[in-house]
This record gives sequence, C-alpha cells and structure tokens, in this order.
Amino acid sequence: MGIAERLRELEGDDRGDAAPRVKRPATRLARSVGNGGEQVGSAPQDVVDEPVWEPEVADVQPRPAREVLPESVRPFQQLRQRAKEQLFVRLGHRLYDPSLDDDDLARLVGEQLDEVLRNEPTPLDEAERARLVRELTADVLGYGPIEPFLDDPDVTEVMVNGAGQIYVERNGRLALTDARYTGDEHLRQVIDRIVSRVGRRVDESSPMVDARLPDGSRVNAIVPPLAVDGPSLTIRKFSKRALGVNDLIRFGSLTNESAGFIQACVKGRLNVLVSGGTGTGKTTLLNVVSSFIPASERIVTIEDAVELRLAQDHVVRLEARPSNVEGRGEVTIRDLVRNALRMRPDRIIIGEVRSGEALDMLQAMNTGHEGSLSTLHANTPRDALSRLETMVLMAGIDLPIRAIREQIGSAVDLIIQISRLRDGSRRVSHISEVEGLEGDVITIGDIFGLEFAGEDGPQLRPTGIRPRFTQRLADQGITLGPELFGLGAEQPRRGWV
Ligand SMILES: Nc1ncnc2c1ncn2[C@@H]1O[C@H](COP(=O)(O)OP(=O)(O)OP(=O)(O)O)[C@@H](O)[C@H]1O
Ligand SMILES: [Mg+2]
Repeated sequence: MGIAERLRELEGDDRGDAAPRVKRPATRLARSVGNGGEQVGSAPQDVVDEPVWEPEVADVQPRPAREVLPESVRPFQQLRQRAKEQLFVRLGHRLYDPSLDDDDLARLVGEQLDEVLRNEPTPLDEAERARLVRELTADVLGYGPIEPFLDDPDVTEVMVNGAGQIYVERNGRLALTDARYTGDEHLRQVIDRIVSRVGRRVDESSPMVDARLPDGSRVNAIVPPLAVDGPSLTIRKFSKRALGVNDLIRFGSLTNESAGFIQACVKGRLNVLVSGGTGTGKTTLLNVVSSFIPASERIVTIEDAVELRLAQDHVVRLEARPSNVEGRGEVTIRDLVRNALRMRPDRIIIGEVRSGEALDMLQAMNTGHEGSLSTLHANTPRDALSRLETMVLMAGIDLPIRAIREQIGSAVDLIIQISRLRDGSRRVSHISEVEGLEGDVITIGDIFGLEFAGEDGPQLRPTGIRPRFTQRLADQGITLGPELFGLGAEQPRRGWV
C-alpha cells in the first residue's frame, strides 16, 4: 500500500485504522471438547509435550552514558548528519506529499543523495556509500536505527529512552542495544513522522500520544518536558503470527492439562476473566482462550485498539474512539458494550475492562451472554475481584456493595491469573473458580496453582480441588475426569463439601 492510500485511510482517525485486517489462518484448533461427552485433560491433538522455552535470569545493565561516539565513527557520522540535513532541505514538503508512495520517495532520496555527495570533499568507498544510502533512506522513510528491530521477528518490544539508549525485548528478556539516534532532534523527527501519519501532533502542548504503525504495532511517544531525559518511544510490535495455545504450552505459560481445562470451560460457556499486570500477556492469553469458542457462534469483540486476532469466521470487531481535538466524538468501551448487546452476540469479548463498563459486562454475563470473556489489570484473583468492585462503582450508579458482590459472584465463573516471574517468563499462576457469595465475602477456590518446589522450576499443577461448576459442564456433556484435578477416581473431593 502506498503512502497516499495509507494517509487516506488514516485521515481523521487517530487510532490508525490502517492496521490491516488480519488474514485468517486456514487451520483451526481441530480438537473439540465435550460434545460427545468426551474426557478433557489429555493433551489437545496439536499440543507439544515438552516445554522448550528456557527462561534465563535477566541481568540488569547499567545506564550507559549518552551521546558518546567513538572517535573513529565521528567523521562518518558528521558526514551523515550533513548529508541528512541537506537531504531534508532538498526534499522539503515532498517528504509529506501523499501522492508519492514509498518507492517514489526512495528513488528521490537516492537521486538527491547523489547530488549531496557530489559536493562532499571526502570521497566515500562503495561500502560506506551503500551504508549511507541505506541509513539515510531508513531515516527519511522509516524509523531510523530501530528499523532492524522492527523487522526482526524475535523482537517483541522496542523501547527508546532518549536518543542514546535503545532497549529491545527478545523472548521475554530486556536487552540494551548498540543502536542510537544521532540526537534528540533525530528521534523527534521519527516520532513526528509516526504520529503525523495518524493525523496527530507531538509538541509541548500535547507531549504524549498513542498511535499505531501501518503494520498494527502499538506506539506510545512522550517528549520533554514530561519525559525528563529526552523523547521516549515505546513500540509493542504486532507479531506477524499471533501466539497460540501450543506456543504458550511450549513457553511453559500453560500445561496441556490446564489448557484442556480452560478449553472445556469456554466450550461450556463459563464467564472467564484473564487477570494480570501490565505486559504480562493478558491480551495474548485472552486471544488463546477465545480460540476455544466454537466456530458456530457469533462473536462480538470490543477493544480500545484492535489487538485480538480470532481465527473464527463469524466475528464483528468494534473499536472505541477517543475524543477529537475539540473534545467531541468519543465512543467508550461502555457505549460499545451496550451496543453489542443489540447485535445478537453469542459471546462478547472485551479486550480489557478498566472502568464503568465492568457493570455492563457483569449484567451481560448474568443475562443471556454467558461465555463472555475479558481481561483486567490485577495481581491476584482476589485482587481482580476487588478491582471489579471498584470498576463497578466507577459506573456512577449507587449500588450497595453487597449487590455488587452478588453480581460479581454470580457472573464471573473463572479467573485465570497470568504473572511475570523474576526470570522474565510469563506464566499462568492461578486458575481459580469464583464460587459465589458466602456472607459478605466472595469465595474463590484455586483449581490450578503454580508450584515452585520442584527441580524443573515453577509448574502449574492442579490443587486437588474440583470446581463446583463440574456438574454444570457435565449437564452439557462436558466431563472433567478426576485425574485432571490431581484426584484418583475414588478419592473424595477436597477443599469444599
Ligand atoms: N506467555 C507468553 N510467553 C512469552 N511472551 C509472551 C507471552 N504472552 C505474551 N507475550 C508477549 O508479551 C508481550 C505483551 O503481551 P500482551 O500484549 O498480551 O500483554 P498485556 O498484558 O495484554 O499487555 P498490556 O498490559 O500492555 O495490555 C507481547 O509482545 C507478547 O508477544
Ligand atoms: Mg493488553
């Protein structure tokens, strides 16, 4: 797609609609649970047995000094800087001309650069010249020194902390890179280019902005004076391939048994919440959990910025919209939840509940939209329940706390907690049943929990408690065998009477 088309698509929409609708993979998770009363808990067919991902302990790097370039690279950098300045002058407004696509611009950069270098006193050898052309084309058209990380499929996140410090995340580990921008000005140009494509601006009066790259990657930029040490750019990359259940099992985030259990719960239309801290993998896990929804059902997804990638065909995707510069036109997650109820959904998936929409979600879960899924920001399942209470209060409806707890207790069936361990790995740490209200307290029971004792590192294991909803699932022909919960066939249930 050329720049012109991209701009047209993005015009007037600071969410950057240009994220391509993801092509649906042809294959689906073939396994089916429960329809014929089959047992769950053995490995799904396409699940890999051995986790292969070995997390290492992340080491902390000291903050390097900024802007100190070795002597030997200075003349080249100086030439590069001079050439770049001239190039920007020569190209002028053509850089932002929507009628030129990337190829036209690349050709223009090549031509103008030839002119610029002709006037340079120091001749460059072939390799240096090629490098200069490559770097300057990347500067003019792309994102500068972070370009290789954006192209590297192993990098999931890129963090620029001022011009002189660029970190990336690979396999859950942070690593400092050698790459750097030539100065804060250079970094600002890249930020300006990213946000101008989505019709936004970054300056002193609006020093922070969320945007999206054309490939769907999520971008946050914040500049001085708010970012004290220079402009800061954070990019959560949109991976070409969404992580699936097999990946999470391979990474050790889930086990075959826990994945089978979650699959049964989703098939059995339980309401499931994924809880976790920032960047723990909530959205990824929600996507995996959603993949268990049968293809025959109509799904409506509601997100702040589309991230979910469902493989099912019958999906309607809704995206909230912030207000425009005049402060008008906002459409909230809450508005969308209400609208979704009128769309005859079988399932509603809310990317993340943060506020008053929690009340609408609970009502939907309680009134005919069982099997709905969402995520929320909390550090334990218990914490998730109190966060939910607070969010319901944010709806601004004066409900007594007991009524709120009753709603939560009867709506939410399962909380899957995902956590990031000290070694950087992301693991499901609890799968807990929300049992209901006893007195004034919502009781929860952990069905799976992370055990740290073994030699193989932390393992997600059944706790020996069989969930109360076992019967509800059995009524739908979904049988959960006692061995799934770490119980022998004859053993009595532990944990509750
Ligand atoms: N189980 C996992 N193992 C390894 N990496 C993961 C796992 N889950 C997610 N990731 C990676 O971690 C990053 C964050 O994932 P994700 O967006 O799902 O987190 P999140 O909790 O939704 O973040 P946020 O709080 O920003 O919404 C992504 O780059 C993703 O590819
Ligand atoms: Mg998320």
